Amino acid sequence: MPMPYREKKIDHMLVDRETIDAFIKRLGKEISRDYRGEELFFICVLKGSFMFAADLIREIDLPCQIDFMSVSSYAGEKTTGVVKINKDLDSSIAGKHVLIVEDIVDTGLTLNHLKSLLSTRNPASIGIVTAFDKPMRRRVDIHVDYVGMEVPNEFIVGYGLDLDGYYRNLPEVAVLSDKE
Ligand code: IMP
Repeated sequence: MPMPYREKKIDHMLVDRETIDAFIKRLGKEISRDYRGEELFFICVLKGSFMFAADLIREIDLPCQIDFMSVSSYAGEKTTGVVKINKDLDSSIAGKHVLIVEDIVDTGLTLNHLKSLLSTRNPASIGIVTAFDKPMRRRVDIHVDYVGMEVPNEFIVGYGLDLDGYYRNLPEVAVLSDKE
């Protein structure tokens, strides 16, 4: 089926496949080195990070597990970043080295809340890895341990990132046009 919606809205490509593949390989090496001798428990934050998580864990040279969580902001409370858990983890993270896998860190509010919430479950450690980062938009001082690449303050789609559920299937990352 043709996708007129997509053709109409995409302004330009921002990140190509080679760049994505290169930062995934780099992150895989860094994480595997930093956690050498340990096991890792990845938490894939649905839905946006499913593609990144799938690529990233294939570059991890350590014993690891992965589980999935789905969170959303409480309606009307976007500014606080308080999140509602739509799908929780299936297993305990107590005593485990945890890495939260995100698609993009924007204001940081969602991750800030999610990290505090998961910290109460007594993991051995808890870190954050994100494919994309918009540091200019940050509203809370949250430490992101591993960043694929920084992107400008524009709305991007593709490689798992969506607009109203669309464009996740784009293999590359694009900037959407302001024009309807
Ligand atoms: P934060 O709490 O503001 O950091 O929100 C992060 C979440 O907002 C991400 O996990 C995405 O789901 C979404 N988001 C932020 N910026 C973009 C973007 O440029 N494109 C698509 N989704 C985005």
